[in-house]
Amino acid sequence: KNGYFTFDPGFMSTASCESKITFIDGDEGILLHRGYPIEQLAVNSTFLETCYLLLNGELPNEAQKQEFITAVRNNSAVDPSIANLIRTFKNDAHPMAVLCSATAALAAVYNDQIDITKAEDRKLTAYRLIGQIPTLAAMVYKHLKGEEFIAPDSSLDYAENYLHMTFGKAGQAAKVSQVLAKAMDRIFILHADHEQNASTSTVRLSGSSGTNPFAAIAAGISTLWGPAHGGANEAVLNMLTEIGTVENIDKFVAKAKDKNDAFRLMGFGHRVYKNFDPRAKVMKQTCDEVLAELGLEGEPLLAIAKRLEQIALEDDYFISKKLYPNVDFYSGIIMKAIGIPAEMFTVIFATGRAVGWYSHWDEMVSTSYKIGRPRQLYTGYTERNYPTK
Ligand code: SDX
Repeated sequence: KNGYFTFDPGFMSTASCESKITFIDGDEGILLHRGYPIEQLAVNSTFLETCYLLLNGELPNEAQKQEFITAVRNNSAVDPSIANLIRTFKNDAHPMAVLCSATAALAAVYNDQIDITKAEDRKLTAYRLIGQIPTLAAMVYKHLKGEEFIAPDSSLDYAENYLHMTFGKAGQAAKVSQVLAKAMDRIFILHADHEQNASTSTVRLSGSSGTNPFAAIAAGISTLWGPAHGGANEAVLNMLTEIGTVENIDKFVAKAKDKNDAFRLMGFGHRVYKNFDPRAKVMKQTCDEVLAELGLEGEPLLAIAKRLEQIALEDDYFISKKLYPNVDFYSGIIMKAIGIPAEMFTVIFATGRAVGWYSHWDEMVSTSYKIGRPRQLYTGYTERNYPTK
């Protein structure tokens, strides 16, 4: 009514919270950020403009956009203590473990500088998180490779800067680096927020105790890591690699349909979408564009992914279970083409999602809120007495 959604009381009793940030209609495959369709933001906006929208509720005018970009750039350097922490990890540590620890350590760096009741402190924390999460992501990658960290370059756009800190400026022809930066920026947009998914709900529940926002974000990173959630993009690439050839697909589809087999088709299905994930469509289009620009149309994994998608979309089992490709199905192929290793894929997801987590945390703490306290359905013993000797 009057441009706002209304829900029947029955729905409200099951909702975990109220929010104005993101709307999903799983049956229709609709995803809106502050009312704007993800398909339009992914193609027409930039990641930092989308960050401003998620945080503030409106698209920025030119002055607001420049001020936001400058504030993020000025807060993208990481405290030396965090660099030292990252260097203490073994080179074969999983990147998500390192990112989670480094983000939690930001709570130690800034703890005495954040009063969560003050809007100015919450705004500065947003600049620090959005500015430093790609720097941390690049540092995690460099540590994996045993290479020196590359400092952020405030003359570069957000995605360009991430690629610079990861791969350095050398080695990429200007045109290629523009293609990769645009694809990277779109991947960040497509991962920015997604309503009350497991990791965002974790950040809200953790934040509802009044804890340090970086600690709550670290809890979100832990949750995202799982293969049923953000870890799926790494699992998709590993699955496509394991399938190996188009001829092998049928064997894996049969495994996915076998109730006695725990194997699931990674990148398919969703708790909410029972139709196409609108992000998957844009990700597939981006995948085609990037591979064409890089002359990688013959990438074998892409052929396997497209054939697998076609088979699944025509298969009665997947149709009956309403299983469609989700955001993770094509993202890994793009990131592999950019040169990012599979173990870093969920770190990229977290880098994009950090603004969504933070927007939900900020929406909660900027209004009156109570500590979350989910209840349970108790199915254990009724009261009984301790046996006396
Ligand atoms: C993300 O919540 C979000 O918004 C998350 C996310 C975000 O942006 O934050 O969108 C990101 O996490 C996307 C999902 C990434 N995960 C994967 O791609 C992993 C593979 N997908 C599955 O693990 C699964 O689809 C889930 C976990 C995503 C959803 O699992 P559910 O809740 O069990 O799905 P469902 O209830 O709709 O399943 C219906 C049936 C079940 O069989 P029955 O019990 O009816 O016999 O379909 C089966 C499921 O077992 N099924 C699959 C399947 N996914 C569900 N069978 C084979 N392959 C699959 N991928």
